[in-house]
Amino acid sequence: MKIDDRLSTYEELRARAHRLIPGGAHTYSKGDDVYPYNAPPHLARCEGAYVWDTRGNRFLDWAMGINSVILGHAHPEVVEAVREAVGLGSNFSRPWEKELELAEKLTHLIPSAEMVKFGKNGSDATSAAVRLARAWTGRERIAVCRDHPFFSQHDWFIGMTAMPAGVPRKDRELNVGFRYNDLASVEEAFARFPGEIAAVFLEPVSMATDLPAAGFLEGLRLICDREGALLVFDEIVTGFRWHLRGAQHLFGVTPDLCTFGKAVANGFSFSFLAGKRDILELGGIRQKERDKVFLLSSTYGGESVGIAAALATIRVLEKEDAIERIWRTGRELQGILHQAIRFEGLENRVQLRGHPSNLALKCVDGRGNPCPRTATVLQESLVDEGLLAPYHCVSLAHGERELEATRVAVGRALARLAAMVRTAGGPCPRGYLLRPVFRPRND
Ligand SMILES: Cc1ncc(COP(=O)(O)O)c(C=O)c1O
Repeated sequence: MKIDDRLSTYEELRARAHRLIPGGAHTYSKGDDVYPYNAPPHLARCEGAYVWDTRGNRFLDWAMGINSVILGHAHPEVVEAVREAVGLGSNFSRPWEKELELAEKLTHLIPSAEMVKFGKNGSDATSAAVRLARAWTGRERIAVCRDHPFFSQHDWFIGMTAMPAGVPRKDRELNVGFRYNDLASVEEAFARFPGEIAAVFLEPVSMATDLPAAGFLEGLRLICDREGALLVFDEIVTGFRWHLRGAQHLFGVTPDLCTFGKAVANGFSFSFLAGKRDILELGGIRQKERDKVFLLSSTYGGESVGIAAALATIRVLEKEDAIERIWRTGRELQGILHQAIRFEGLENRVQLRGHPSNLALKCVDGRGNPCPRTATVLQESLVDEGLLAPYHCVSLAHGERELEATRVAVGRALARLAAMVRTAGGPCPRGYLLRPVFRPRND
């Protein structure tokens, strides 16, 4: 049945969705934990930097398909490439010719990529990296950066989050945490489990943390080489957002394995694992020296839409000088958001985190802990102002017009918040409280 929400309230639509879909959405971070009561429960279409709900209301989008849409929604060149690919068929019985073209492009671009293997989502790529690292080293433990929020929906990672239900205890015990920009914590992990750690796994840089400190990534490389462990960079967010050759090129440190997804195909389903030939060849059918690894093989691994979208996205990124433009826009946005916080004197309640291509307004209490009441009021006000902005993911479609609209909207939203703090003694949400996705219970 098509949604006719002129006859339904948002609450009724949410109830319908939650009755049929656990969480009401097929991706937690698109769901009601993250968006406030007045956000449209469903969207109908999107274009450029804008989305339209089922009632025809337009919103300026800063979430951009959870960081995946780097060129803007429905970018004409990507849409055209996909349309053409769909006309040729969607799933071939032998590899599609464009698989080779894209593999050649990616191995040319990315410093550590001597070989690549395609998948359809980031989790499959990161989990494949873990299996490969274990097979290569004959070890089982993975050193995982605790400051980075998400690496995979699979057991090896979910077991170490705040909602490990359903993950076998033995899987949970195989991870050992370390802190970003803290080489001592990495040394500690290796000292605690000598000869047992297969890989050091992290994002080379993340919106959750500062820039890499001088010598940190280089230090990881040295430790991994000394200990016989693999260095794995998860570039699923940084990939093509920090540099077309990956953040690994920008920071000059080459991992053994790396994973890309999200922006690579401008929101279409595509990911890849890349790295050293010897290691990836464990998943091949020619090497005879070692056991074979079952590596990222699925019915949809070579499905044509994602591959066509990735080729078109890379083409546009190259010819439009896109990454430089995105960072310029992001730096302007950073200034606008900083200025708005300062103007309202809200530095103790709202902090700007991240780096120019990915920014977020984080709401905190007096002790610096996350404050759901403040976050809810802020997000409710931003939706009132026509923004969907749980964070700010800058795309090529965001320009001066969108920056000006954001300056006005964030200015008004923070003014409202400041007034509440002054007159009502604190933020007073109108609807349900926003909550972190990772929590053990729904209380
Ligand atoms: C850094 C990072 N790695 C891996 C993933 C998993 O990607 P996917 O959601 O496509 O499975 C994500 C998703 O948000 C991510 O941010």
